[in-house]
Amino acid sequence: MLSVERLDLYYGDAQALDQVSLEVPAGEIVAIVGANGAGKSSLIRSIAGIERPRAGRIVFKGHDITGLASHRVCDLGIGQVAEGRQVFPTLTVEENLQMGALLPRARSRARPTLERVYAMFPRLLERRGQDAGTLSGGEQQMLAIGRCLMGQPDLVMFDEPSLGLAPAIVKEVLHTIRRLNADGMTVLLVEQNVAVSLKLSRHAYVLENGRVVMSGSGEALLHDDRVRQAYLGL
Ligand SMILES: Nc1ncnc2c1ncn2[C@@H]1O[C@H](COP(=O)(O)OP(=O)(O)O)[C@@H](O)[C@H]1O
Ligand SMILES: [Mg+2]
Repeated sequence: MLSVERLDLYYGDAQALDQVSLEVPAGEIVAIVGANGAGKSSLIRSIAGIERPRAGRIVFKGHDITGLASHRVCDLGIGQVAEGRQVFPTLTVEENLQMGALLPRARSRARPTLERVYAMFPRLLERRGQDAGTLSGGEQQMLAIGRCLMGQPDLVMFDEPSLGLAPAIVKEVLHTIRRLNADGMTVLLVEQNVAVSLKLSRHAYVLENGRVVMSGSGEALLHDDRVRQAYLGL
């Protein structure tokens, strides 16, 4: 579904991504793991059309989307749940969700999609008229996911969805991702929580200093000595 080929990204003179290649097959969960500063968000933001790579190619469902404006990338079906639960705090829960359906691809089906999102997150339905800024961290993460789904994506990229959430809420978020995937959603998951993302993913890539240094099945990487020492503290 998504293929990233030899991507280079720079911020000024500083190289953030160095010849990064990866594949996300339809229907799978693919994980990118790596320490803080490894380039995970830069990669997601490049795919989303927010950063402009200096070299390389990004192909989504057969379209070359390299350098495309982010609203056009969204409208082709790539949704993003950005780092830090970005919701509009002074808009209500329902207004936040409706913002997600402004894409041309999603507008006509906004009503049934809203019902699906409420069925998936009953707490959002209970709080539909409440300002998003008054929600708990976990509820805001659910809202961010719900808003992304309102855009009818074929692929959802999650950037650190568990960061800063209590363990019980982390479980809930991961359960949500697994359920979305079971319903057919393709997922690209970025997490510092390496153990969790390797367990969740069919295939994973390890990013260090902007380069892919290892890749394999989540299961294989979980048992790899270098991964265990560097990322799992074992
Ligand atoms: N907007 C930016 N301008 C300059 N440097 C940046 C910017 N965003 C990220 N970086 C740098 O790029 C590198 C990768 O950052 P990032 O992609 O955020 O890593 P991660 O998400 O894995 O923590 C880091 O060295 C970071 O300081
Ligand atoms: Mg990041």
